[in-house]
Amino acid sequence: MKANRELKLSPDEMRRLGYRVVDQLVEHFENLASKPVMRVSPRVELEAKLREPLPEEPAPVDSLLDQLQRDVWSNIGNVQHQRFFAFIPSPSNFVSVMADALASGFNPFAGNWLEGSGTSQIELVTIDWLREMCGLPETTGGLFVSGGSMANLTALATARRARLDNQSENAVIYFSDQTHNSVEKALRVIGFAREQIRTLPSDEDFRLQVESLRQAVAEDRAAGKQPFCVIANAGTTNTGAVDPLDRLADLCEREKLWLHVDGAYGAAAALCERGRKLLAGIERADSLSLDPHKWLFQPYEIGCVLVRDARLLKKTFHTMAAYLEDTKRAEEEEINYYDYGVQLTRGFRALKLWLSLKTFGAAAFREAIDHGFELAEFAESLLRRSECWRIVTQAAMGIVTFRYVAEGCSESEINEIHRRMVEMMTEDSFAFANSTALRGQTVMRLCTINPRTTEEDVRATIKQLEQFGRELQTTIKTK
Ligand SMILES: Cc1ncc(COP(=O)(O)O)c(C=O)c1O
Repeated sequence: MKANRELKLSPDEMRRLGYRVVDQLVEHFENLASKPVMRVSPRVELEAKLREPLPEEPAPVDSLLDQLQRDVWSNIGNVQHQRFFAFIPSPSNFVSVMADALASGFNPFAGNWLEGSGTSQIELVTIDWLREMCGLPETTGGLFVSGGSMANLTALATARRARLDNQSENAVIYFSDQTHNSVEKALRVIGFAREQIRTLPSDEDFRLQVESLRQAVAEDRAAGKQPFCVIANAGTTNTGAVDPLDRLADLCEREKLWLHVDGAYGAAAALCERGRKLLAGIERADSLSLDPHKWLFQPYEIGCVLVRDARLLKKTFHTMAAYLEDTKRAEEEEINYYDYGVQLTRGFRALKLWLSLKTFGAAAFREAIDHGFELAEFAESLLRRSECWRIVTQAAMGIVTFRYVAEGCSESEINEIHRRMVEMMTEDSFAFANSTALRGQTVMRLCTINPRTTEEDVRATIKQLEQFGRELQTTIKTK
């Protein structure tokens, strides 16, 4: 058979494929609630099903879609399932899914104005919505990146350039022990050594303590070091804790430190009133990470980094090459996003957020975020009423943590019960939550940001956890 050198389908074939893909997606969204939340297959099984040499010959795409249904989509954790409460769920929406299809289909180059003026304008507008939502001034600029890890890296590289002119040997960075590991990863990638990082113990509410930060900065200055940057949390991954942003901003101002706020998880809550109150001070950040693929209901991958003085992004990332000269045009007016971050070639990530915000309206997003707050509070109230649990951290920014109470079991046995509960949930696949460690104790954690999750979902999940807890306790006691 002659190879399809142009890699083309006829209009009818394209439509048929497109309709089938849409049908599969609609079926998925419609029936997700009754599907398993988790399905993990052993590597050997998947190797047997999917390992093959580079396919030389064509195959009917229908059969490939069937294979995907059978072997791939059935082997994922459904992070947008209404009973997926683990890590940070990503409860996306169908409009954004279609936006991703459009972005992929038109395939604009969102790295410069010449090739993507329309797309860049949408990105400018959408970034500005997020800026306004978080109360940062109009001098602020930013861009969409792959997620929070890249947002943190982009912000910290900018801070290093702006405050240290990249002379970082003596510099010191501060954050709490609850800070996401992407921050340390970013610092390592941009060349900081472990000795330059101060991980400060958090207070009883898992927040960075301003006084111990002040002391650490003073000690470092006395030792001839150069304190340079504080990373504050606007919603930690573990417990949803928000560091005292206003007081940290005061300290940073006094000490001339760069304040980066990691709001990858929580900053989206600034859209609603109670979130705005909890996040007071976020508007004083020098840089901010915010992930629309978390609490703004977008499919992966879309993170956002905002920098209070947009010019610093360009100062950090601008380099030039002969083959890009033609893209340098009206510098003031035309924005070339390749100058604002690591990527040259970049996709049109802004579209999904723009299209879904316009389609549903910000009010719908606001209510969806509020629902996340309320569900965590509802979960907390159920847990408090049950004798099986002790609340470890109360509902905060859509996250509640709790520990199983098992009379007669040692602390390490109770830790083990939590780890086994997660295994049992994975096996059972009705609901999924994860454990984490807080002050050396393993605890369960629910993150309730899915706008389609109901109180009944929460109730049934807790009931199941109680049942697993009882079974595990009996097994341990009879061992
Ligand atoms: C607070 C926080 N920061 C950063 C990240 C990293 O984001 P991503 O996984 O999108 O790279 C996460 C992810 O959960 C997070 O919760």
